[in-house]
Amino acid sequence: MKKIALTGIKPTGVLHIGNYFGAIKPALHLAKEYDARYFIADYHALNTVKDPQVLSAHIREVAAGWLAAGLDPEEVIFYRQSSIPETFELTTILMAFTGKGLMNRAHAYKAAVQENLEKHEDPDAGINMGLFTYPVLMAADILLFNPDVVPVGKDQVQHVEMAQDIAQGINFNYKGEILKVPRAAVQAAVAVVPGLDGRKMSKSYGNTIPLFAPEKELRKRIMRIVTNSQGVQEPKDPETSQIYLLYKLFASAEEQRALAKHYREGGMGWGDAKEALFQVVHRELSPLRTRFEALIADPAALDTILAQGAAKARPLAQATLNRLRRAVGIAG
Ligand code: TRP
Repeated sequence: MKKIALTGIKPTGVLHIGNYFGAIKPALHLAKEYDARYFIADYHALNTVKDPQVLSAHIREVAAGWLAAGLDPEEVIFYRQSSIPETFELTTILMAFTGKGLMNRAHAYKAAVQENLEKHEDPDAGINMGLFTYPVLMAADILLFNPDVVPVGKDQVQHVEMAQDIAQGINFNYKGEILKVPRAAVQAAVAVVPGLDGRKMSKSYGNTIPLFAPEKELRKRIMRIVTNSQGVQEPKDPETSQIYLLYKLFASAEEQRALAKHYREGGMGWGDAKEALFQVVHRELSPLRTRFEALIADPAALDTILAQGAAKARPLAQATLNRLRRAVGIAG
């Protein structure tokens, strides 16, 4: 039997090429080897996104984005967290086994408190219970589907460890493997995707290249990449140039060698390098953009895909929840 991989995708913004190389591509690769269950963590997003239009747009964009990037809903169970009500019942059960102290130690909560203290505000200003109990909801997402591995970025490892702690507490209390204890699979840094300003590409730095930008916008963003003042004739070092580092993500080995040579020989201006980058990015992303636009233009079809995923996911969730309900003495 294949092992199970599960991960959640928070719909909080427009997908960019950092997401593509850091999360989407590795997860799709993993789905070839594992039984994959990938879902849109829409109730997680509610903690921070309070505008209904914005939230529903983000949910659709992220769902369409993963499908456009190649997620095959026949192969991966792809669903919305909110379509699995078992998640929320399991959350209630897990709450009874989660120390408040454990939540106090969560990095995301601690960072929010720290920020308040630095601003001389009440330590809990602006912090809702959704944020405080975030790791419990995430543990429910995970434990409901018995995954072997949970592919996540480094920032989420602590949350997966908390899910392990909570599951172990339950298994210990009821003397059996009621819940499977998963492990986090952190993506080996396939590549740090540099942003337009040379820092890591991140929504919070505002230095991204959106995955589905129209051609004009894509070109504009690439032309905005910050460079140094080396002249056209000067030889340049490809490995310290974010244009080249981005180019490597999209180009064949042969193309990479040719551009690197051009850098080192001199006679290549930054404008030429940016044009070369634009060409390879556009080549890879334009079919994705076409698929994305078609998916976004037909919300009913998108909802059907997600509903079909939920229909496959729910019986699996019900099996775990029923097992746990019996174990705790609520049912049977
Ligand atoms: N917290 C994750 C993030 O911010 C998203 C997420 C929610 C998740 N539930 C999950 C990831 C369960 C893995 C497993 O990126």
